Amino acid sequence: MSMQGTNNEERTDLNKEESRYIRARSRKLLFSMLAPMKARLASAAVLVLFSTAMRVAGPALIALGIDWALPNAVEGRLGSLWLVVGGYLSAALLSAVLVYYFLMITAKVSQKMLFELRNRMFVHTQKLSVEFHERYTAGRVIARQTSDLESIKELLAGGMGQLVVGLLFMVFTAIALLILDPISFLVLLVSLLPLGILTRWFQVQTNRGYRKQRVASAKLIQYFVETMTGIRAVKAFRKEKRNEEHFGNLVEDYRGHNARLIQLFGIYDPGLILIGNITVAAVLLVGGLRVIEGDLGIGVLTAAILYARRFFDPMEDIAIFYNSYQSAASALEKISGVLEEEPSVPEPQAPVKLERARGEIRFDSVEFKYNTGPVVLHKLDLEIPAGQTIALVGTTGAGKSTLAKLISRFYDPASGTVLIDGIDLREVANTDLRREVVMVTQEAYLFSGSVADNILLGRPGASFEDVVAAAKAVGADEFIRSLPEGYDTDVNKRGGRVSAGQRQLISFARAFLANPAVLILDEATSSLDIPSERMVQRGLKTLLSGRTAVIIAHRLSTVAIADRVLVMEHGKVIEDGSPAELAAGEGKFAKLYKAWRDSLV
Ligand SMILES: Nc1ncnc2c1ncn2[C@@H]1O[C@H](COP(=O)(O)OP(=O)(O)OP(=O)(O)O)[C@@H](O)[C@H]1O
Ligand SMILES: [Mg+2]
Repeated sequence: MSMQGTNNEERTDLNKEESRYIRARSRKLLFSMLAPMKARLASAAVLVLFSTAMRVAGPALIALGIDWALPNAVEGRLGSLWLVVGGYLSAALLSAVLVYYFLMITAKVSQKMLFELRNRMFVHTQKLSVEFHERYTAGRVIARQTSDLESIKELLAGGMGQLVVGLLFMVFTAIALLILDPISFLVLLVSLLPLGILTRWFQVQTNRGYRKQRVASAKLIQYFVETMTGIRAVKAFRKEKRNEEHFGNLVEDYRGHNARLIQLFGIYDPGLILIGNITVAAVLLVGGLRVIEGDLGIGVLTAAILYARRFFDPMEDIAIFYNSYQSAASALEKISGVLEEEPSVPEPQAPVKLERARGEIRFDSVEFKYNTGPVVLHKLDLEIPAGQTIALVGTTGAGKSTLAKLISRFYDPASGTVLIDGIDLREVANTDLRREVVMVTQEAYLFSGSVADNILLGRPGASFEDVVAAAKAVGADEFIRSLPEGYDTDVNKRGGRVSAGQRQLISFARAFLANPAVLILDEATSSLDIPSERMVQRGLKTLLSGRTAVIIAHRLSTVAIADRVLVMEHGKVIEDGSPAELAAGEGKFAKLYKAWRDSLV
């Protein structure tokens, strides 16, 4: 069964098979990260075993001191006492040194793991296709990279070592008691029953509590990100008041879950102390009776009491770290889910080289739908000869952008093929395709950096003169020079902020510098005023020559420079011909064209 895209963070109704699958996936990820550090982990294990043994030796040495060395010393033989005291001190010292090295090694291992996980997440999410990012919202990706990695970090930074040391200490203490005095061990064993019940209850409750708390905090983050990214719409529609209320509710929810968790600790801690003290009292009582009867040495009793007392020491830490272990484990489950995602448009195994494309595009009975949505393109057959300029017009939602995204291979068709120069796009190496096919959209995203840097993205390594030439060609040079620092202006700094139209001009220059064989403009001039658009169009004419171009525009002025017009409706091309032909005809385009021309006078 494929679990691709299993969205396991908001769901609590996972069935057994799914949970098992997710745990296995997360384990696999963990092992893949730990495998290269086997040697280090092995030495850490040896160190912690020895250091714990040394720590646990303490009370046994005290028993030896009281029952054997002390009577000897009373009789004047001080040597044995020195021996025991020396042994006790050396064990303590050695254990401290070993713990130090153990903690150092685990710290290194965990830092390395964290670093690797962070990197893998970034590289992988970036590699994933557009399809993934449209499905998996930005807020969730951010949560993976922040709060999830944070909770793993929390465990790795302090908890993991503590958890191991604590558990080992308890096991070794119990074993030491068993060897030293089996009857006291039995008393301790009885105490495990209430301890087990209490701890189990605590675990189940906190597990549930932490899960709710995490969901609440994820909602909080998601809502925050959504509000802030949509801040303009929030302001425009005066949504602040409603947002405030909603956010207030989310915070209240979060607070409630936290309060419940604190309450759980408030019950567990005293319970733990009580059970520990009762156990010590029981060991003292049972042992004391045996001392009176002469069955047990006072030293052994002392050691038994010490063991019983110390047995419970790590319990609280373990309970706390068990929780951070749980939240880290669930974070790792979610991260492993993202890492498992495959790009929906995979890089070909044996790519066909595309040296210098001519730019002939063909759609061969292409059918397409987004995910599980309805069919957006129906059995589309289309041939665009190299060098042709196509104007793609049609109603909103007709599928124009979808067609454009298929040519740039942001998606693969559900059936049929899209070909460039007769080669299936699925067989072309990504780098070749990105070089030969460039799409400019309405968004015109600019990255932090200078204007020149942003244009240079089109062809990294191009000279400054080329950058300026590209800007001049699209009519962007003039406004760029008027910016505070001209081409060096940082587009994300004050004063460097550019308008939507100016952003489009910059992204135009970027595309022209790239000099692709196929250029797609999806509403790329929609934010330009009429004079600027004219200017771009003048540039377009020269720059489109010798290039295949698909221009999607609602303004019919664009159509004038096209060799051919395609009219789309409901995922089908309903008209196809030269602008003059179509305008003279009786179809949809003729009506649109007439209305547009009438509006000009
Ligand atoms: N990412 C997506 N996921 C699911 N459905 C989508 C997605 N993008 C577009 N669609 C759907 O596909 C259909 C075609 O959309 P497309 O963006 O291709 O239209 P368009 O012709 O470019 O429209 P417009 O002129 O408004 O830009 C629409 O019905 C739309 O709802
Ligand atoms: Mg569109």
